[in-house]
Amino acid sequence: MTSPAVAVEIESVGLVFGAQTDAPTVALQDVSCRFEPGKVTALIGPSGCGKSTLLQIARGFLNPTQGRLRFVEIASGTETSRPAMATVWQAFNLFPWLTVLENVAFGLDLAGVPRVERDARARKAIAAVDLNGFENRFPRQLSGGMRQRVGIARALVMEPDVLLLDEPFGALDAQTRLVLQEQLSKLVETSGTTAILVTHSIEEAILLADRIIVMTARPGRVCDQIDVSLPRPRSLATTHEPQYAVLFDRIYGMLRDEVMRAMIIESEGA
Ligand SMILES: Nc1ncnc2c1ncn2[C@@H]1O[C@H](COP(=O)(O)OP(=O)(O)O)[C@@H](O)[C@H]1O
Ligand SMILES: [Mg+2]
Repeated sequence: MTSPAVAVEIESVGLVFGAQTDAPTVALQDVSCRFEPGKVTALIGPSGCGKSTLLQIARGFLNPTQGRLRFVEIASGTETSRPAMATVWQAFNLFPWLTVLENVAFGLDLAGVPRVERDARARKAIAAVDLNGFENRFPRQLSGGMRQRVGIARALVMEPDVLLLDEPFGALDAQTRLVLQEQLSKLVETSGTTAILVTHSIEEAILLADRIIVMTARPGRVCDQIDVSLPRPRSLATTHEPQYAVLFDRIYGMLRDEVMRAMIIESEGA
């Protein structure tokens, strides 16, 4: 990362899908939050509350219908241009006809990075997710957990200022997820990347995040923001800490109510 530290600010953002139709969906309403540079912020909330939508807005793929998105340089406090971003989606989205190395190098190739540098950077990213020795395999020859690590390597190799993760481990079994959570936690700690993590797992949010933003059922609003001060590195052992249990219960209490509300909204077809 060469660029200065930049915070991503969401200001009174609202988003309505299908505003011109007779069945508009209010996905987000008056959402204000800030993603601090070098920190991991988790977005947690019931299914359909607009988490992915908020990530798409941060990424610049969707424009809010109200409010705005700002990038603020920390040192000067002034507005600046969009920092470099990379995304890890839940569906691994790997190219099946490319090897692991080629998949990871793909974005660099597009960016016109010369071959020698490209391969060196791709190998480094592959090593960072512990996939040494698998460079020449194809996605179909890998387990789900390994494929998702390739997905993470593919984002890391771009050396983004901001890393967006949309339920990156949602499709994996619980044990694999735990291992990857520990790995990702180390990676974000050492890289100093700003990370925005969408998750529906309270455990994942507490293990990875510096701050957790809890969202309400649709229309998504910010219900609470909680700082996580548990020491790092965090691991499975962290889940046995008394402070972990307190945080977990607090977030679970909020989510439980919101999930019930979300179920009612769904059953009413609102
Ligand atoms: N392109 C779209 N067109 C219409 N409605 C959408 C679109 N994308 C998402 N939605 C709706 O907006 C709401 C929020 O979706 P999403 O951000 O995907 O939720 P989450 O990621 O929290 O599960 C949901 O009700 C969803 O059905
Ligand atoms: Mg989603």
